[in-house]
Amino acid sequence: MSAVPKERHQGWRMPLTDIAISEQDVAAVMDCLRSGWLTMGPRTEAFEQALARHVGTPHAVAVSSGTAALHLACLAAGIGPGDEVIVPAFTFVATAAAVRYAGAEPVLCDVLGPGEFNLDPEDVAARITPRTKAVMAVHFCGYPAEVGALRTLCDERGLTLIEDCAQAIGATVDDDGAQAGTVGELGAFSFFSKKQLCVGEGGMVSTADGGMAERVRLLRSHALSSSTWDRHRGHDPAYDIVDVGFNYRMDEPRAALGLSRLARLEADIAVRRRLVRAYRERLAGVAGIELTWDERAVRRGSHFAFPVLLADRDRRDRFRAQLGEQGIQTTWYPALHSFSEYRDRVPAGALPRAREAAERHVALPLSATMHEGAVDVVVEIVRDAVSREG
Ligand SMILES: Cc1ncc(COP(=O)(O)O)c(C=O)c1O
Repeated sequence: MSAVPKERHQGWRMPLTDIAISEQDVAAVMDCLRSGWLTMGPRTEAFEQALARHVGTPHAVAVSSGTAALHLACLAAGIGPGDEVIVPAFTFVATAAAVRYAGAEPVLCDVLGPGEFNLDPEDVAARITPRTKAVMAVHFCGYPAEVGALRTLCDERGLTLIEDCAQAIGATVDDDGAQAGTVGELGAFSFFSKKQLCVGEGGMVSTADGGMAERVRLLRSHALSSSTWDRHRGHDPAYDIVDVGFNYRMDEPRAALGLSRLARLEADIAVRRRLVRAYRERLAGVAGIELTWDERAVRRGSHFAFPVLLADRDRRDRFRAQLGEQGIQTTWYPALHSFSEYRDRVPAGALPRAREAAERHVALPLSATMHEGAVDVVVEIVRDAVSREG
């Protein structure tokens, strides 16, 4: 592989994340460009079929982003004005925004604990009202949410379960290997640049319900009764418009890239899991650092990010600054109710576990291109940073 272009690392000694584009990836995109057909067509169909097989879902519909996938999942679930959808307070904003695009109200819910960032099923149950239409479970950082318990709850209360799998392609939710995105009526995936399967921008909806899949297909392209590709092939020269849809189409170069990269996804996730285990081994017992989740979650997770906890927000911020000085890039996610747009939607002091998780965590560098030696370098700098706190 050629020298790392500077856009990728931006001067960081250890970037938070990194991607490798193989010669096959480049060839797949070049083939597509040379074919002269760039909008949604045969490569998108092939990508969808390969994704459906990989995830183990009857229907996979490719779209332009994970956010578009969440929006269309909400619409396919019949979510609309007057409805409430329970979402974790600790997630990326797209989870809640998609509910609002559909005209419904996201109801923020707490997570299991500061070291387990996913929805707490008991708190979900406590927030159900007559207006609740659905629960949106996020598999945060690639660690599977408690979708077994949430499935039971949703079945008992007549609610739809939507899985936000934007960070979790390839994660399994039980010991039989069922994948994230197959337990809810609908799953939404992201192929954004930093994700385990990345194409730049892209997403997918998974569902076992043929009617919902049809609805997503219709709405992703202006609710046209036939696609440009169908018309190009002469299958259906005319079209009707049967609803208000969107332009959420995936294009062919991204589908070609995704198809090429999908072949390496499992191997990439295995590398990520190996690195997470190496981090956990070396950080276990280091005073000042708390690990998140447990070995079962590590086995099932697909490891988008590797978060650890510091004692409190101040220490976390100092820790990040110290790592930054040594060229180690880190990040963290704020809780939704700390943002101006969401602050007034919950009473002061509400959702304490989500707030604590947000304030104490930091994500360390992790990618499928990293080596165990890099983990050693980061861990040494981590040890040094926490030892200075005394
Ligand atoms: C939890 C979560 N949901 C949704 C999204 C939205 O995905 P995209 O960026 O592809 O629109 C993201 C992406 O970063 C995410 O992390």
